[in-house]
Amino acid sequence: MNILFAVSEATPFAKTGGLADVAGALPIALAERGHRVHLFLPLYREIKEQQPKLTETASITISLGAEEVVGSIVSLPSEHPNLRISLVRQDDFFDRPFLYGPAGKEYLDNGIRFIFFCRAVLEAVTALDLKIDIYHTHDWQTALIPVYLKTLYKDLPRYRGGSLFTIHNLGYQGIQDKKLMPMTGLDWQEFTFERLEFFDRLNLLKGGLVYADALSTVSQAYSREIERPEFGFGLESVLQLRRDDLYGILNGVDYKEWNPADDPLISNHFRLGRMAGKKLCKKKLATAFNLPHEERLPLIGMVSRLVPQKGFDLILPLLKKAVEFTAQFIFLGTGDPEIEKGLTTLARQYPSQVAFIQGYDNRLAHLIEAGADIFLMPSHYEPCGLNQMYSLRYGTVPLVRAVGGLDDSITSFNLENGSGNGFKFSAYTTAALEQTLKEALQLYQNPRLWRKLRQNGMRNDFSWSQSAIKYEELYRKVDFRNKEHG
Ligand code: ADP
Ligand code: GLC
Repeated sequence: MNILFAVSEATPFAKTGGLADVAGALPIALAERGHRVHLFLPLYREIKEQQPKLTETASITISLGAEEVVGSIVSLPSEHPNLRISLVRQDDFFDRPFLYGPAGKEYLDNGIRFIFFCRAVLEAVTALDLKIDIYHTHDWQTALIPVYLKTLYKDLPRYRGGSLFTIHNLGYQGIQDKKLMPMTGLDWQEFTFERLEFFDRLNLLKGGLVYADALSTVSQAYSREIERPEFGFGLESVLQLRRDDLYGILNGVDYKEWNPADDPLISNHFRLGRMAGKKLCKKKLATAFNLPHEERLPLIGMVSRLVPQKGFDLILPLLKKAVEFTAQFIFLGTGDPEIEKGLTTLARQYPSQVAFIQGYDNRLAHLIEAGADIFLMPSHYEPCGLNQMYSLRYGTVPLVRAVGGLDDSITSFNLENGSGNGFKFSAYTTAALEQTLKEALQLYQNPRLWRKLRQNGMRNDFSWSQSAIKYEELYRKVDFRNKEHG
């Protein structure tokens, strides 16, 4: 099949979170299965800096309200013959220091930037003479593409392909002032409760939910959770209406990037049965975070965007009594200034037990996966979550809340039969987290059981090839229905 994959971030080019990991790996997994994949990304400043040689392949002009905005399509060399990478260049919109805005803030014109991106991708289909069977788009930034396919482009024979819209995070909806409606080029009749309107504002994500031929989320559990008000962020009724078209496919892991046996970002490698390197990584990790190295003390790590989603309102109160835990804690992340402040204060208060590095650092993220004993993810909600799966491969035991993809990928260790790959709690309370942490610390005292638990996780296989097959099945379903009706 010919698949167009439009997304706002992808490794190794530009990344703020797990969406980039997915968009970096899934197109390659699909290309390896013989599909022709056209990946589209905005040409951000950081990509320009990494890629000195860019080849312009087409010029495009988009009407945004009364204004005509000119941009171009630039192509990048790709590591797979079936994968073609195209970047949308519009320097006023994308040649900026951040993808979406400085930490914890958004650029005020993000709505316009991504309206432009969606239109540009669709115009590129004509400019590059592509024949697309499936348009696979992701999150609010590319949610207008399925809307345009059913409106502005619906009578154009070139645009007969079906659409799949994947929800990676319902907490970000790209809600705009309704005065942006004319910029979209859509008729005001689209601005209704059933379509793009949301409390008198323009909700771009909702457009994708309403118009795409099929919807997916990044775990089965999340696909069910979002029908409930607790997780639906006001869109639960829209999702209930689309229940029959909503699928859950768990993300995979790119084991070329995340493998302790040959990870170029760590200097001591290890694998099942040869774990000495992990001890050395633990030592390096403690040093990197300026903590005293205590070989016997469990080291608990977390790498995360610092946002309420990730459960910091449980962690911060818990760590106020850090001395009660025979463990050390390490945090890496950026985001919400309040959370940054909370972690900084704790690190000052407990300098030998708690450490926080504020920032985004891929090398340190790999070192935490490799050197920590336990990885913490007490998320309030988690569409999939990737770090728990990376942790498993690095022999770092995940301690998670039973929600979304965390619930689908982690099973509690069973003392009786030795099954399970982590620790899991349900109630969103500090007490439940504390209880589970205490159980984990207790089990850590039993090296034989701990080894068993770690081995179980290291044996798990979440490679992309399995998830790619599920996407392929879903594309075929959409394509079949689309051709039947078209
Ligand atoms: P989300 O997409 O909600 O942020 P995921 O668990 O799916 O959560 O993916 C997060 C990804 O971003 C992981 O690859 C993680 O290592 C990476 N990441 C998050 N914060 C940082 C950071 N401060 N430094 C380096 N990598 C980070
Ligand atoms: C989102 C979610 C995360 C998921 C990622 C990739 O950012 O918060 O749970 O793993 O997308 O799908």
